[in-house]
Amino acid sequence: MTEPIVVLTGAGISRESGLATFRDADGIWAKVSIEEVATPEAFRANPQRVHQFYNDRREQLQGGEVQPNAAHEALVRLEREYPGEVLVVTQNIDDLHERAGQENLIHMHGELLKMRCERCSTVHDWRTDADTTTACPGCGTAGRLRPHVVWFGEMPFEMDRIQEALARCGTFLSIGTSGTVYPAAGFVQLAKTMGDSYAIEANLEPTDTSGLFDEHHSGPAGEQVPALVDRLLKGAA
Ligand code: APR
Repeated sequence: MTEPIVVLTGAGISRESGLATFRDADGIWAKVSIEEVATPEAFRANPQRVHQFYNDRREQLQGGEVQPNAAHEALVRLEREYPGEVLVVTQNIDDLHERAGQENLIHMHGELLKMRCERCSTVHDWRTDADTTTACPGCGTAGRLRPHVVWFGEMPFEMDRIQEALARCGTFLSIGTSGTVYPAAGFVQLAKTMGDSYAIEANLEPTDTSGLFDEHHSGPAGEQVPALVDRLLKGAA
């Protein structure tokens, strides 16, 4: 078996690294509302509040305690040792996949460590705080920078490339996502109808889309993903 593998990851893969998910009882949306910090309207209404929300998460991500975990590392092993193509599509805006060594990677919801200028559209690596007075390194305009993340109501990045990969993959692996936010939640149907692929879900618990998968494995990603990668690599040997 060397058919391409597409892996979708969500906040659950970063939970054991110390980053909160969104919809668990202790998740981000239990503490702050989406309408307050994760929509274009929120940013227009109160840009400083939105900047602070992402400043806090950027600071936590770089705080030193947050490191890639065994699940991130197993996906890097899959990319390096599997004889066919492996594409990781993540909904996460953290950089844990990169820090683990993943290379063939798409951040469909953008990246916490990047900032975009609404005036000149340049995108910049960003590791410090930003606010409504911060100037764009590209055009120098102050107050027009926004987090380079996809908010609710905005189109995710690289959808053409993702759909093309789903149409030709032999195995679709979904890890640590609740399957509640589209278009990512619909990827399993695309993979199965367009690509006739075998779909495996690994999540702490069953999700709304578990019934669409050929297999569901409940448990923490740090345990489930290394075992799945061992199996996929053995199957390809
Ligand atoms: N291992 C595996 N899965 C886990 C773990 C763990 N250690 N801990 C939690 N989970 C599971 C939860 O059971 C849940 O189903 O991870 C899933 C996380 O779901 P969400 O919090 O909804 O996160 P996600 O699916 O990534 O959200 C999708 O929604 O808010 C937007 O843009 C945001 O990218 C995000 C998108």
